[in-house]
Amino acid sequence: MPVPLSKKFTLNDLRSARSTGNKIAMLTCYDFTTARLMQEAGVPMLLVGDSAANVILGYDSTLPVSLDFMIEITAAVRRGAPHAFVIGDMPFGSYHASIGQAVRNVCRMVKETGCDAVKLEVSDGQGRMVCALADAGVAVVAHLGLKPQSVGLLGGYKFQGRTAHEAKDILASALHMEDAGAAMILLEAVPPEIASAVVEQTSVPIIGCGAGPACHACVIVTQDGLGLTPHRPRFVPTLTDLSGPLRDAFAEYVQSVATGSYPAAEHDYVMPPAEKAAFLKSLKCEEPPF
Ligand code: KIV
Repeated sequence: MPVPLSKKFTLNDLRSARSTGNKIAMLTCYDFTTARLMQEAGVPMLLVGDSAANVILGYDSTLPVSLDFMIEITAAVRRGAPHAFVIGDMPFGSYHASIGQAVRNVCRMVKETGCDAVKLEVSDGQGRMVCALADAGVAVVAHLGLKPQSVGLLGGYKFQGRTAHEAKDILASALHMEDAGAAMILLEAVPPEIASAVVEQTSVPIIGCGAGPACHACVIVTQDGLGLTPHRPRFVPTLTDLSGPLRDAFAEYVQSVATGSYPAAEHDYVMPPAEKAAFLKSLKCEEPPF
């Protein structure tokens, strides 16, 4: 039986989970209706990821999605799940020009959506930016490992930390981001040994996305888990397969309209009988309009 979120899940709840060892589920979410269902199902953390570029808008990378679009959908998720911890994702280009630009745009995201934290794909050179955001009072999620916004530089969507050297770099970046004031670190597509080392050597909550079992919270792209995307990454569990039932339901609707079985009498709005009679009579008496 689902246990709906009855009170607000906060950063302190996530920090407590880090100390108690309770694992926290997080899903991506991009709209009001799904957010409402997720809150009813007891999902404590929702990420409004820039993966919206792929699964909502149909782009083949996350790069084209705009800040305005991310703000609009993050606000919708907030309205749908007021008790969940909602993380807004900063899209490519919205925080790269200067620290001033980053602070302005992140403050817009927070003010206009009511999100609880913001996520940025960061590199070591952006420590001062993370520090400025933390100084502004923003809970920053520092996204490390596979960073889809850097697909051009990475040469594809491959798991990160393939060599001891790369693994040490990811660990060093995590320590650097914690020092800079990041409230959480998200590790995407890295081997579990790296995540374990990050968990052991830092004191902030670590969110894994294909990073093994040591992380304090786990996130997946919801559409992957529901079987709605053509390629599911290897770390994503099958929650259910909705593609077949949805396709069947759409096909059934097409058929029912084509055959005239829909709409039927039970779908009609009903006029009061006297009004209906008067209307039908007027059709017979009145002159045609032309
Ligand atoms: O945009 C997103 O959905 C993400 C997750 C895959 C971590 O960044």
